[in-house]
Amino acid sequence: MKFFVDTAETDQIAELNDLGMVDGVTTNPSLILKSGRDILEVTKEIAEMVDGPVSAEVVALKADEMIAEGRKLAAIAGNIAVKVPLTWDGLKACKVLSGEGHMVNVTLCFSANQALLAAKAGATFISPFIGRLDDINLDGMELIADIRTIYDNYGFETQILAASIRTVNHAFQAAHIGADVMTAPPSVIKKMAEHPLTEQGLKTFMADWEKTGQKIL
Ligand code: G3P
Repeated sequence: MKFFVDTAETDQIAELNDLGMVDGVTTNPSLILKSGRDILEVTKEIAEMVDGPVSAEVVALKADEMIAEGRKLAAIAGNIAVKVPLTWDGLKACKVLSGEGHMVNVTLCFSANQALLAAKAGATFISPFIGRLDDINLDGMELIADIRTIYDNYGFETQILAASIRTVNHAFQAAHIGADVMTAPPSVIKKMAEHPLTEQGLKTFMADWEKTGQKIL
């Protein structure tokens, strides 16, 4: 499973990137706002920092304007994935931009039918939002499983990018179902390393080591 980091905070991306945990980065208008940075500048900086795809989202609502914005974003670097919303206009933009050879991430996906349309429009990535479905008492993981089945049924190459990952359980379930990629905030990725038995075991080892009176260095 590929790990994308869902943030525009460059220091946090750098920390995980140094550990080899970053296969790509996703941003959106809310994350750009949170970073307080200029979209073109911060996207360029991130794209230079990581080898994999860096998603940058268009903000126009009409296909023609999305395409123009998408071309501008794609021109920032060779590893930009243009993010377009899953609307009819977004699908038109996806078709054109992917036809021009750009990576396209179709975002705000909340149904398997939407994911099917995105694959047919040539999306590189489809981003189903797990947490936001869970927020309204629906099952985000069921959506990931449904898309996996449909894409596998027909051999679509569009990668399932599990998004709106809020918990370590989301991360586990998305991997278990076979999402190609997950994008998660750095805090969730770091939390995946935690286990109470690891902490407890380490505490015992440290106490026993102290009693030996030995040193390694
Ligand atoms: O990857 C999409 C993500 O940024 C949305 O997450 O937590 O705002 O639903 P959230």
